[in-house]
Order: sequence, then structure tokens, then C-alpha cells
Amino acid sequence: MGACRWSMKRGIWKVTTSVVILAAGKGVRMRSQLPKVVHRVAGKAMIEHVNDAARAAALDKVVIVVGHGRGLVEELFSHGEVDFAVQEDQLGTGHALMQAMAKVQGDDTIIVLAGDTPLLQPATVRALLNHHQQSQAVVTVISTEIDDPYGYGRIIRNQDGSFRDIVEEKDAREEERQVIEINSGMYAMQVEEVSSVLDKLGTDNQQGEYYVTEALRILNDQGQKIEILQMDVQEDIYGINDRVQLAQAEAILRRRKNVALMENGVTIMDPNSTFIDCNVEISPDTIIHPGSIIEGRTSIGADCQIGPAAHITSSIIGQRVIIEHSRLKEAEVGDDCTIGPYAYLRPGAVLHAKVKVGDFVEIKKSTLGEGSKAPHLSYIGDSQIGKGVNIGAGTITCNYDGQNKWETILEDGVFIGSNTNLVAPIKVGANSITGAGSTITRDVPADTLAVERAQQKNLKKR
Ligand code: UD1
Ligand code: CA
Repeated sequence: MGACRWSMKRGIWKVTTSVVILAAGKGVRMRSQLPKVVHRVAGKAMIEHVNDAARAAALDKVVIVVGHGRGLVEELFSHGEVDFAVQEDQLGTGHALMQAMAKVQGDDTIIVLAGDTPLLQPATVRALLNHHQQSQAVVTVISTEIDDPYGYGRIIRNQDGSFRDIVEEKDAREEERQVIEINSGMYAMQVEEVSSVLDKLGTDNQQGEYYVTEALRILNDQGQKIEILQMDVQEDIYGINDRVQLAQAEAILRRRKNVALMENGVTIMDPNSTFIDCNVEISPDTIIHPGSIIEGRTSIGADCQIGPAAHITSSIIGQRVIIEHSRLKEAEVGDDCTIGPYAYLRPGAVLHAKVKVGDFVEIKKSTLGEGSKAPHLSYIGDSQIGKGVNIGAGTITCNYDGQNKWETILEDGVFIGSNTNLVAPIKVGANSITGAGSTITRDVPADTLAVERAQQKNLKKR
């Protein structure tokens, strides 16, 4: 052995470590059209969780081995931040690693992970790499003890505790099946040494597959050092094979997210009925009431009251905002706004500070200026609304003529009477008023009262 761990890169001494994520398998037990690793858990595909853990552990070069449904896996990383190796036929974990080696030649070390372990945390990856560097082994494998080791490869140690072999469930003899120390499927490996034995792997096992674990046995038999890093990480290494396990992973990730937020000063009244995706950010002293779902890339400022039953997707919420029983999707909400109950903010809804959107109001692709109000029963689409505008109950922007969408402009200080139809394209000038029940089809100049209504007749009752 004795491979140099350190290489010259851009004039500084730097260890070069890549991450290889094995993700070519189909995952038959999911009973799905989709490849296993693209199934979502806590708002992200399983493989994204693994990739994110690697990156958070400061490992930026990631190679994903894809095969089954590879297009769908590649789509998740369309920003080009990862590299792919293709495994056309899934002939086993050892075969999958072989496909990746061309992409990591020249690196000192690789971390090998599986794409179906979404509970993996950065600290575990760091611990693996640190231990590997300190122990000077050619391969370090994370093991853990587990109450029910069924299905996992078992770690077989020599009398002195050193590594002897890893035996798969299907190949294990009775006494080997009793072993509760299992192979996590996560390894740190020296590229050069491991490369030199990959072509020696065979398929002489129950599954007729190339096992990555056989490389460890061969290297060990050659007298090279295989290190077992036993950790108490049952969650981190949890591999998802079916939808029951997927739901368990979901529950664990939700709990972790809620705990992290609470530790950061967010009140979550009922964590069991609160679903917050991993990427959501919430500032201290915000209170999340029961039954709320907060998804995607949402950020929420401080001192807000969210819920009960707020469903918020990929939205930006300011400070001191109140959102009750409402749906928000790709919306922006400024400080001190009040939303709901029963409001619907659709993509492109932008509320500046101190806006009030009340019950049964739908807003799409529209901006409401500071202090404007739509308190009841309105549809506002494709609109530019200035400051201090009051939109009376039942006001509708008629933005669609059956073919095209048209814009409504309400300038600062406008007062729209109840039950007004604003037939777009239309503009109401600053500080103008529309009479209740009017259907406004022509632009209204500033400082004007526009009324469009037949004279009321009071006829004698017969
Ligand atoms: C593997 C290990 C086992 C370990 C377990 C931990 C081997 C032989 N066994 O078993 O010791 O306890 O992980 O979870 O390595 N994959 C490919 N191409 C293939 C086969 C698999 O990319 O041809 C990928 C899968 O998509 C998956 C990962 O490798 O992400 C692990 O494969 P899987 O079939 O789940 O291995 P296990 O049988 O669980
Ligand atoms: Ca597995």
C-alpha cells in the first residue's frame, strides 16, 4: 500500500476526494414505474438527500452511477453539479463501482454511498473520511449493530477483531446470520488499490452478482488494511427498499426538521401534524399552528403566525405575517401582511408590506402595493395594484377574454366598490372610486367616480 494521500493541486497540498453514489438499481420492491432513488421523502428525492449530505460534508465532486430510469435521475441534477457514470445492466454493487472508476482516476480517495439512504447526515460522512485518513487503511467500511440484521451483509471479524469478510444474507451460513453487526454499504476507499482488484471480482454467489464487498475481502487477503468503523448510526444507514420504509424515513426526516427549527427558536405547536420540508427556512419567534404544510424553497421571517392549516409552497414570507387556513404557492408576502382565512395566493402573487387579503380571495400574478386590502370574496389576476387601494367585497378582475389574458391597473389610493367587475385591459387612475355593482370597461382617470349602473326604479307592488 502506501499510496500518497496528498497531491499537489494548484500549488497547495490538498487531499482529493470524490463521492460515488450507487444508484443504478430499479428497486423492485417499491412496485413503481420510477427508479427507487427518485422517490421523494420530506420534499426531496432520496438521491438528493444523499448528494446534499455529501456536499454538506464539504465533498463537492460527486459521481452518480445511473442505470435504471437514468433520465429521471439525471433530470434532478440538471444544473451540472454532478457527474454521471452509466451502468447499462445492473450486475451488482461491485459492477456499479467499476463503471464509476474512470471518472475518479487521479483522485486519492473516494467515499462510496448508496442512493437509497436518505437519512444520511454530513457528520457521518465526515467521520468516515476522518477515520479513514487517520487509520491509513485502503478501505474503511462503516458498520453498525442492529436488532434485526435481516437482509444486510454481515461483518465477519477475525478472533482479534480485525476484518475478515462481509457475507450477504443470501450467502450466509447459519452462524453468520446470527451476527448483528452489519455492513452499512458506505465506504472510504483508496482509488489506486481498489482499482487494482476490481477486475478480480467474480459472480460466484447466490445472486450471481459482482459484490463490492468482495473487493474488501481480496484486498484483505493480500494483506492490505481494511478498517471497520463501527458507529451508532442505525438511522443514517437506513436503506429504503419499499414504501413502508419510505414512510418511516419520512417520519424521521420530518421529526429532525421540526427539532432543528424548534432548537432555532421556532414554536411548533403540534409537531405531529406539521409537515415542513428540509429546505424550508423559518426565523425565530414564528409560531406554526397545527395542520400546516410548508414545502419547497419557502422562507418565513420572524414573529409570524402560520396556520392553523396553512399550506405554503415555495413562497417568501416576511416578518410579522399572519396566515390562517390558506394556500400559498410561489407567492411573495411582505412584512405585516394578514392572509386568510381561506385565501388562495397563486404563482406570481406579490404582496408588499401591510397588505390584507381576506376570506375567499384568489390572487394570481398580481402585485398589491403597501397597505392595500382585498378583504373578502375577490378574484385578482394579472393586476398591478398601487398603495392604499381598497378592493370591495366581490370584486372580480375579468382578465380573460377566452383567448388572451389582460392586465388591470389600479393606481394608488383607488377605492373599488363592492361587486365591481373590472374588464381588462383596464386602468383606474389614482384616488378614483368605482360605484358598487359597476362593470367597468373603460379606463377611469384620476380623482374620478365611475359608476356604470342602470337607474333604480321603484315600482308599485301589485
Ligand atoms: C448492499 C451490500 C450489503 C449492505 C447493504 C447496505 C453488497 C453486495 N451488499 O446490499 O452488504 O449491508 O448494501 O444497505 O454490496 N446498485 C447499483 N447497481 C447494481 C446494484 C446496486 O447501482 O447493479 C445500487 C442500488 O441502486 C443501491 C445500492 O447500489 O442504491 C445498493 O444496492 P442494493 O441492491 O440495495 O444492495 P443490498 O442488497 O441492499
Ligand atoms: Ca439496499
